[in-house]
Amino acid sequence: MKNLVVLSGAGISAESGIATFRDFGGLWDKYRIEDVATPEAFRKNPKLVLDFYNMRRRECIKAQPNRAHIGLAELENDYNVFIITQNVDDLHEKAGSKNVLHLHGELMKARSSMDSTLIYDLDSLNSDIQIGDQALDGSQLRPHIVWFGESVPMMEKAQDIVAKADILVIIGTSLNVYPAAGLVDNVSDGVPIYLIDPNTVFVPRSGINFIQKIASEGVGELIKILGSAR
Ligand code: OAD
Repeated sequence: MKNLVVLSGAGISAESGIATFRDFGGLWDKYRIEDVATPEAFRKNPKLVLDFYNMRRRECIKAQPNRAHIGLAELENDYNVFIITQNVDDLHEKAGSKNVLHLHGELMKARSSMDSTLIYDLDSLNSDIQIGDQALDGSQLRPHIVWFGESVPMMEKAQDIVAKADILVIIGTSLNVYPAAGLVDNVSDGVPIYLIDPNTVFVPRSGINFIQKIASEGVGELIKILGSAR
């Protein structure tokens, strides 16, 4: 089976009711990155940062995968599908995708603020992280999120996956954030690239197949195209 690699971003979860970051009215219109998504912010005002992610986690627990997540999971019948997502929600997993790599961390996990390898699953019934909640090393628990200014531990693994792609699909990402956006450079020459987004996104490659649609419709169209290409 061919390797189908998907690079997904916030846009794929928009139809599940989760706000994107850079669209009009998106999260970064309402919050400043430097107040809630950096290690400095957590040092300065940990409660504000914990509250921000507690709120987002509650949204994530309620959210259901949409037809785009489900369509990608169903493609596993015909392809080795690898999902590399910048999203911190768990909607690809809820839809049934088996190989999901989270570049920017996961809302449903917490970790030690001293040791990035000391990671815990959060219970969806009691998922808020509070000031005073401690990891086994005695440090304050923090969200398992890669903040701005931190390294992206999954990057090398993601580059290896993209390098083995026979087909690359980019869905719902503005490709504004590096190093994630640079993954497109790791795809081999000649590999077909499909871009699904209702808005124009600059991809630094030629011959992009642009499906200018929202994620659910775009994945539906992709499935038809892939079906007729077989
Ligand atoms: P952005 O908010 O930057 O981009 C969202 C993309 O989704 C845009 O290209 C939109 O046009 C598109 N979009 C909107 N609605 C859509 C829909 N219904 N279907 C398909 N596409 C739609 O989000 P990301 O590119 O994911 O990182 O942002 C990357 C990173 O920036 C995030 O992982 C996050 C953020 O800061 C961290 O917090 C570390």
